[in-house]
Amino acid sequence: MAERPSGVKKNEARTSPVRFRHKHLLAISDLDRFEIESLLARAEAFAPLAEQKIKKLDTLRGRTLINLFFENSTRTQSSFELAGKRMGADVVNMSVKSSSVAKGETLIDTATTLNAMRPDLLVIRHGASGAAELLSQKVDCAVINAGDGKHEHPTQALLDALTIRDRLGAIEGLVIAICGDILHSRVARSNVALLTMLGARVRLVGPPTLMPAGADRWGAKVFHDMRQGIKDADVVMMLRVQRERMDGGFFPSAREFFWFYGLDEDKLKFAKPGAVVMHPGPMNRGVEIDSGVADNPNISLIETQVRMGVAVRMAVLEALAESGSNAGAR
Ligand code: NCD
Repeated sequence: MAERPSGVKKNEARTSPVRFRHKHLLAISDLDRFEIESLLARAEAFAPLAEQKIKKLDTLRGRTLINLFFENSTRTQSSFELAGKRMGADVVNMSVKSSSVAKGETLIDTATTLNAMRPDLLVIRHGASGAAELLSQKVDCAVINAGDGKHEHPTQALLDALTIRDRLGAIEGLVIAICGDILHSRVARSNVALLTMLGARVRLVGPPTLMPAGADRWGAKVFHDMRQGIKDADVVMMLRVQRERMDGGFFPSAREFFWFYGLDEDKLKFAKPGAVVMHPGPMNRGVEIDSGVADNPNISLIETQVRMGVAVRMAVLEALAESGSNAGAR
């Protein structure tokens, strides 16, 4: 067994594995504040591992994790892969491109096949909202939603919260503006649920065409003017314009979108002095965000988000692996 780096041992001692009452992680809305705080604390303890020479624990030794991605992904897939490997699990990546076969059918067929291989943890990303939940009904193992259509992306919201805490301390009372293509964003939905639960004042900022009907009932304040929306905000979280989910003209041109809603240094001046900027990636530079903002290490937390992603996923994998064995699920 690999020797545990001493820094990790010390940090780990401050927290213990999260005792999860859920078999799956499908949506932030399934969790309560205590569970979220526990996962964040555990992830915080795992974060220093990335700076160690030996980055591997043996918590999930002998366990099998399958990454099942029906949509393209760079950071989320590799983040789950690294998290699984750093926890000592055997990780298999399956990149399933959408085919002409009806999506539901493909998913259920694939689920049955994978289930027969007896994985312990299954991470799924799929273009259809509800796909992770459907899969969870068809397999015996723990299912983690890595993004289902426009619905939820719970580990992204957890890593965003950890990133904000890492830089600004507490989340309670912060003004957080989530801006851009809210309509197609699972990141926005998971973040509104999580950040409001932790006591942030969340705003949603975007053009009326990219604002879902009923967004004002999510517990966030809706703005259509970017400068008003980010005024005095502590955090400005930009979202990618998700062209792959658009089947019509939601805005006249990328140039015009940038003019009204793209975050550049001029618009950022309306936020609170010292405000930080986030983006889940991948970025459309010059569409929703200007490189001058995205690449400024004093204000951009984008790299920290990627770093915290691995730590959060380690905490989630551990919690679900524990809950499976506690419940004697198989
Ligand atoms: C997000 C996603 O896939 O929902 N990206 C990510 O997980 N890093 C946001 C996006 O694709 O724009």
